[in-house]
Amino acid sequence: MISALTPDSILEHSTDLGLEVRKAAMSDIAPILELINGYAAKGIMLPRTEFEMSEAIRDFSVAYSGAELIGCGALHFYTPTTGEIRSLAVAPERKTHGAGRRLIEALIAEAGQYELDAVFAFTYVADFFRKMGFAEVERGELPLKAWKDCLRCPKFQCCDEIAVVRVLRPEHWRQTHEAMASWGSLPEGSVLLPIVKPPAG
Ligand SMILES: CC(C)(COP(=O)(O)OP(=O)(O)OC[C@H]1O[C@@H](n2cnc3c(N)ncnc32)[C@H](O)[C@@H]1OP(=O)(O)O)[C@@H](O)C(=O)NCCC(=O)NCCS
Repeated sequence: MISALTPDSILEHSTDLGLEVRKAAMSDIAPILELINGYAAKGIMLPRTEFEMSEAIRDFSVAYSGAELIGCGALHFYTPTTGEIRSLAVAPERKTHGAGRRLIEALIAEAGQYELDAVFAFTYVADFFRKMGFAEVERGELPLKAWKDCLRCPKFQCCDEIAVVRVLRPEHWRQTHEAMASWGSLPEGSVLLPIVKPPAG
């Protein structure tokens, strides 16, 4: 039941790694920011502020090894049937020990609880996502992303991220996908401008 989701509701333990993956709490904001902004300083991820994190904390799951936050990832809803996996990061010294996979599994499980048809991601590590069951798609196949987020991104005009999708409910996804496609993708080189409403009266 959706309303029953709590920080403990998607909890997994890995005894061999001592890894705990759970929904994030407010107290996780500081270490998540440190992790994400460490990668942002290297140009690998977009920087986040405390305000943004406070707003988005319910999207996040975290991976802990003992008392140390070693990874995070977020499931951000786009439509009633699609979501984006974003802000996925594992601490540099903790990579390749399965934390990334465990976070993806937890986010996919959460997407399943919300009965999403598919989850997508925009990434530089497409090979990692392929291993997680995602398939590469044309960016134009996910027009919502452009309308919702890309306008605010400093890389908007020179985006080199790869779009990947994992379909969770194939029978529903076909219909969703057709509806999204009907909203239309943008011709190569198009520039989106924000819509400014004229003042009333
Ligand atoms: C991408 C990232 C989250 C992966 O986390 P991780 O904990 O190292 O991944 P795992 O150990 O769970 O790896 C799972 C599998 O993916 C593979 N893998 C991990 N990183 C990979 C990469 N960059 N390219 C290809 N395969 C990769 C692993 O070898 C493993 O394969 P196996 O199951 O065959 O052994 C981590 O490298 C990271 O934080 N990168 C920097 C931030 C970033 O780019 N985030 C993505 C934003 S969309």
